[in-house]
Amino acid sequence: MKHVLLGISGGIAAYKSAELVRLLMRHGYIVRVVMTQAATQFITPLTFQALSGHPVHTRLLDESQENAMGHINLARWADIFLIAPASANCIAKFSHGLADDLLSTLYLAAECPVYIAPAMNQAMWHKAVTQENIKRLTQHGIMFIGPEAGSQACGETGLGRMTEPEAIVQYFTALHAAGILQGKKILITAGPTREALDPVRYISNRSSGKMGYALAEQAQLLGAEVTLISGPVQLPAINNVKIHLVESAADMHAAVMRHIAEQDVMIAAAAVADYTPDSVQPEKIKKQGEQTELNLQRTQDIVANVASLSNKPFTVGFAAETQNLEHYALDKLQRKNLDMIAANWVGQSQGGFDSDLNALHVYWHNGEKAFKMTDKTQLAKQLLTLIVERLNA
Ligand code: C5P
Repeated sequence: MKHVLLGISGGIAAYKSAELVRLLMRHGYIVRVVMTQAATQFITPLTFQALSGHPVHTRLLDESQENAMGHINLARWADIFLIAPASANCIAKFSHGLADDLLSTLYLAAECPVYIAPAMNQAMWHKAVTQENIKRLTQHGIMFIGPEAGSQACGETGLGRMTEPEAIVQYFTALHAAGILQGKKILITAGPTREALDPVRYISNRSSGKMGYALAEQAQLLGAEVTLISGPVQLPAINNVKIHLVESAADMHAAVMRHIAEQDVMIAAAAVADYTPDSVQPEKIKKQGEQTELNLQRTQDIVANVASLSNKPFTVGFAAETQNLEHYALDKLQRKNLDMIAANWVGQSQGGFDSDLNALHVYWHNGEKAFKMTDKTQLAKQLLTLIVERLNA
């Protein structure tokens, strides 16, 4: 049974949190409530104590409360930290790491997933600084539920209403419905790498990272614990996915090796540079003469190194080709000791590297399957379903 730590900050929507506690408990969650001082002006702690069956925590330095369950223990107890309603002030404090009361201190101490259901006046919601705070928190992996549009307690109409308790509970029950990758750990590489020539130049490729990020997002939604090792891309962070940003093929290799133990599956969707300059020039290279040469050396083959480990995970590679797709894909499957390879055409008018669409032809030992051109989210779901089938085969 999941432990929900429910934080309530000061706002008229705090009255809705009473129903939220009731519904969460009806769905089998165990709930403990933390309130800010401002929240207690809107609704009494006694209400939540009666509903949750536990004392309500309101102060950081309260001897009796700290003895019963100190703030660090409370943070550790939680499987989910949900703040509903979250005021603009509460969001601003989280975003800047302030910890001047129990709720904001718990945010800093919490290591579990954090969900925020904002509630505020529509002008406060749209204010640039609030939006910046939300962006920062999203980049830190915090999930936002709502807000919704509609009429507000202040008489205005717009975005800022707290999502209704039924919808919040539905969000969690859907999230916790056992997915086909429940309990599995997946490591995914994504994006291009950058091989530096000098302080301002590098060699790279057209990979957008979209396929790897779609795989990471879908794997997470299917219940996997996902680690994403990403080269430089223009893509937003993904809820509940640990992202490690790297630059070069060597950095990506090191990051993968640091995280590979205990992974059940590795999917190498990154377009890793095959060659890197012999050395990085400390100063900008000056132009000289009509021609020049670059001395390059081979990089380590990350996916092949993973597949050669004695306790290797189920290892899936990608083959992006402009010709002889099947031949090269099967060669890579064998040579790199992979369990599966997903091959796709690149350099065509539709699909591939820098596109939202793709088509894949997947090969494994004694089998193959073609996935038609579709968006990368759909394709990610199809590929992950196939991986699960092969894992269980
Ligand atoms: O040999 P090729 O680069 O075409 O193989 C592509 C597959 O190998 C992809 O899955 C890619 O992520 C992976 N790869 C790698 N490390 C490299 C080169 C490729 O993991 N240095």
